Amino acid sequence: MKIAVLGTGMVGQTIAENLSTAGNEVIMGTRDPSKTVSRTEPGSFGRPSFNDWKKANPNVQVKSYAEAAQQGELIVNATNGTATMQALEESGADNLNGKVILDIANPLDFSKGMPPTLTVCNTDSLGEQVQRKFPGAKVVKGLNTLTAPLMLNPGMLKEEGHHLFIAGNDEDAKQKVTELLKNFGWKEEQIIDLGDITNARGTEQLLPIWIRLMGKLGTPFFNFKIAK
Ligand SMILES: NC(=O)c1ccc[n+]([C@@H]2O[C@H](COP(=O)([O-])OP(=O)(O)OC[C@H]3O[C@@H](n4cnc5c(N)ncnc54)[C@H](OP(=O)(O)O)[C@@H]3O)[C@@H](O)[C@H]2O)c1
Repeated sequence: MKIAVLGTGMVGQTIAENLSTAGNEVIMGTRDPSKTVSRTEPGSFGRPSFNDWKKANPNVQVKSYAEAAQQGELIVNATNGTATMQALEESGADNLNGKVILDIANPLDFSKGMPPTLTVCNTDSLGEQVQRKFPGAKVVKGLNTLTAPLMLNPGMLKEEGHHLFIAGNDEDAKQKVTELLKNFGWKEEQIIDLGDITNARGTEQLLPIWIRLMGKLGTPFFNFKIAK
């Protein structure tokens, strides 16, 4: 399958590497492909530079947002939450029309330091903003409540039966995302479908507690487990 991964940070790299290794044609979207590929500064959290990462993942193509979105049959949004609307506008509504967008972005504003605040909350969410702006796309919010390595390796936690959440208006799109998540190693019973895209408010608003838990626990390798 041709998959566009919009975003070149830790999430974009982790997802692109996994999907490419699994045999998909992965086209990464970025503002300026040649500038991005020539980045030699180390990545965040001890990750290699983008240039080194790209050398280790020669099959992943790096293109403009518009080219990536045009070629992708499925779109993964792994752009910075404060820039998501801009990145998707650059991608082009025509290139997103009719396609599933797995939206992993969180609308976090770090401009005033830690902890960040949400740029949208309570009565709206980034997921809804994306769905409203691109009504022809099928937005599914998901994976935004987990650190990137855990998204693709739920078994890395000793504790079993932890959960992730999805939300979106289109049932078929949520089914496609569920299949993708199962390929990442998630079991169906770990995936909680909260309902329509307004439920992105709930999962994006988990980030203030997620960030505080990371500080308290001293690690990003944890997840929510819902007990009934
Ligand atoms: N890090 C995690 O473990 C984690 C977990 C869950 C959810 N998330 C969410 O996933 C998203 C990606 O996180 P990340 O840590 O991988 O990377 P990030 O640093 O939050 O975002 C990097 C991406 O945002 C793009 N970007 C930044 N400013 C832009 C602008 N003005 N216009 C267009 N694009 C712009 C960058 O474009 P260029 O490629 O052109 O530089 C890059 O592709 C975020 O929304 C984050 O909240 C992250």
